[in-house]
Amino acid sequence: MNAKVHELLNAQINKEFYSAYLYLEISNYFDERGLDGFANWYMVQAQEERDHAMLFFTYLQNNSQKITLDAIAKPDVKIEADMDALQASLKHELYVTSLINDIYAAAYEVKDFRTMQFLDWFVKEQGEEEKNANDLITKLEMFGSDPKSLYMLDQELGTRVYAAPSLVL
Ligand code: FEO
Repeated sequence: MNAKVHELLNAQINKEFYSAYLYLEISNYFDERGLDGFANWYMVQAQEERDHAMLFFTYLQNNSQKITLDAIAKPDVKIEADMDALQASLKHELYVTSLINDIYAAAYEVKDFRTMQFLDWFVKEQGEEEKNANDLITKLEMFGSDPKSLYMLDQELGTRVYAAPSLVL
C-alpha cells in the first residue's frame, strides 16, 4: 500500500473514535438536560462511529498493514445551549467528509482501486451523516422553543435504534 494512503487510513481510525467520543459527550449533555430521546440519538451515533473506526482498523488488518493507535483527544466542544451541540456535530461531520475525500484523493492518485472501493461506502455514509445533522438543526429551529413540541421531538429521537453497518469486511 502507498505510504500516504496507509498513513491517512491509519489516522482515520483515531478520527472515527474521536467522533464516537464527541457524540458520547453530546449524548451525556442531553442526558443531564433530561432530554432522553436526544441522548439516545447521540448514543446511537457514537456506536456508529465506533463501527466506522473498526472498519478502517479491519481494512488495514485485512491488507496486512501496520496499525498504530494514537491517544484519543478530549472532545473539543463547548455546549451552552442545545443548538450548540447540533451545530458542533454538523461542523464535525463536514470535517470528516473532508478527511474521507482526502483519503480518496490520495488513493485515486496512486490508482489504489481497492481502497477507493472501500471508501465508496464512506462517501455515501457522509452524505447521510450531513443530512441527518442538518435535519436535526432544522427540527430544533422549528420546535426547540416550544416545550410541548420539544417533548415530541425528543420522543421521536428516542425511537432511533442502533443497526450494524451495511458494510462488512
Ligand atoms: Fe464516521 Fe460521522 O462519520
